[in-house]
Amino acid sequence: MDETDISFFKDGFRLDGRRADQLRPVKIEVGVLARADGSCYIEMGGNKVIAAVYGPREVHPRHLQEVTRAIVRYRYNMASFSVEERKRPGPDRRSYELSKVSREALEPVILTTYFPRSVIDVFVEVLQADAGTRTAGINAAAVALADAGIPMKSMISSCAAGKVADTIVLDPMKEEDNFGQADLPIAMTPGGEITLMQMDGGLTREEFHQAVEMAMKGARDIYEIQRNALVDKYSQLEAPAEEVKACE
Ligand code: CDP
Repeated sequence: MDETDISFFKDGFRLDGRRADQLRPVKIEVGVLARADGSCYIEMGGNKVIAAVYGPREVHPRHLQEVTRAIVRYRYNMASFSVEERKRPGPDRRSYELSKVSREALEPVILTTYFPRSVIDVFVEVLQADAGTRTAGINAAAVALADAGIPMKSMISSCAAGKVADTIVLDPMKEEDNFGQADLPIAMTPGGEITLMQMDGGLTREEFHQAVEMAMKGARDIYEIQRNALVDKYSQLEAPAEEVKACE
């Protein structure tokens, strides 16, 4: 099957009923794992992803230590049952690439110099995949880092735009990603500083600008959801007893 065998639009709407510039539903839960220092569960459409953050903690093996800053490790892993055809367990070229670019998307906002000789470990497990797992993973990881109390300059939010049937669309789902003409994931700070940009396929210069604009708008909307999820969790926490007493 290729792009010509698939009809991506019906009456102006996409296969899942969305408009071209519409995100899939996003749901974020903060602090879902008791053993991790910070964690987050995210659903972005059909993607279900969990992120766990550990650290800052001592680096093992020790020769990886950096004297002036913490190192950040990011492991993206796709569960065997997360895709239609069973994925062979263990790392592969794709997961190495996604781990690298995702780490690079987050590292610029983490204040690593506060924690020399330490490591911050980020684990991302994809439980169900439906295209856009790297963006979902980065969104979950950024929230999990905040949940772990890691000092950051800002949040990071990630979203992709794609091209199907000569139309630029936001947040492509699997059929659009696999059989479309282009895919352009980005990650950025709320201020619009881009920390990840990749592109598969081909876009004209004009389409490229349109896709970047659209992905940035999607990332801004995701930022609001990340922020609300963190505010929800932390506004529910009661102040410690001594603090309450001090205020009385
Ligand atoms: O997930 P993301 O879009 O970040 O990365 P991709 O390499 O463009 O993969 C797109 C989608 O293809 C994934 O989200 C999965 O739904 C699917 N896929 C798969 O079915 N089996 C794989 N071994 C890898 C990807």
